[in-house]
Amino acid sequence: MQVNVTVDGTAHSNEAEPRQLLVQHLRETLGLTGVNVGCDTSNCGACTVHLDGRSVKSCTVLAVQADGHEVTTIHGLATDETTEDGWHPLQTAFHEEHGLQCGYCTPGMIMAAADLLAENPDPSEEEIRDGLEGNLCRCTGYVNIVRAVQAAAAAGNGDGSSVSAHQAEEVSA
Ligand code: FES
Ligand code: FES
Repeated sequence: MQVNVTVDGTAHSNEAEPRQLLVQHLRETLGLTGVNVGCDTSNCGACTVHLDGRSVKSCTVLAVQADGHEVTTIHGLATDETTEDGWHPLQTAFHEEHGLQCGYCTPGMIMAAADLLAENPDPSEEEIRDGLEGNLCRCTGYVNIVRAVQAAAAAGNGDGSSVSAHQAEEVSA
């Protein structure tokens, strides 16, 4: 089946098997390997992306279900992922607050956190922990992840400006 999907602002049109998962389409068809696979059973959140501006575990969505929709991955969150100046405030905050160790959960964690901050620009610690409960981290114990999200929220001045321009378009649409 043909899948027409806009990913990180770029339109793509590719064949997909009816049973292909969105995470496989992103990684294997489009080469977006920042979208990780931790479990394939919807438990870990490593595969989290935004579908029409809301975070989803991309192993729970078929590629064909994304046809006609807009996906944002960790690659599209930064204005320029090759330089720190282009990082999203959450990427900067995870770096500065040591919100990662092995980094495997980090792309999904950041995408889930971006959705959380878009909905709630000034979350409490409890709200952050609730918002990220679908994303598992085997390394950090979560303390520095929570700190990183709080730092990103502060960097966004609590007004939602911590979301990327691309995501802001999605949120305001
Ligand atoms: S790979 Fe999708 S939730 Fe674990
Ligand atoms: S940093 Fe290793 S799983 Fe989270």
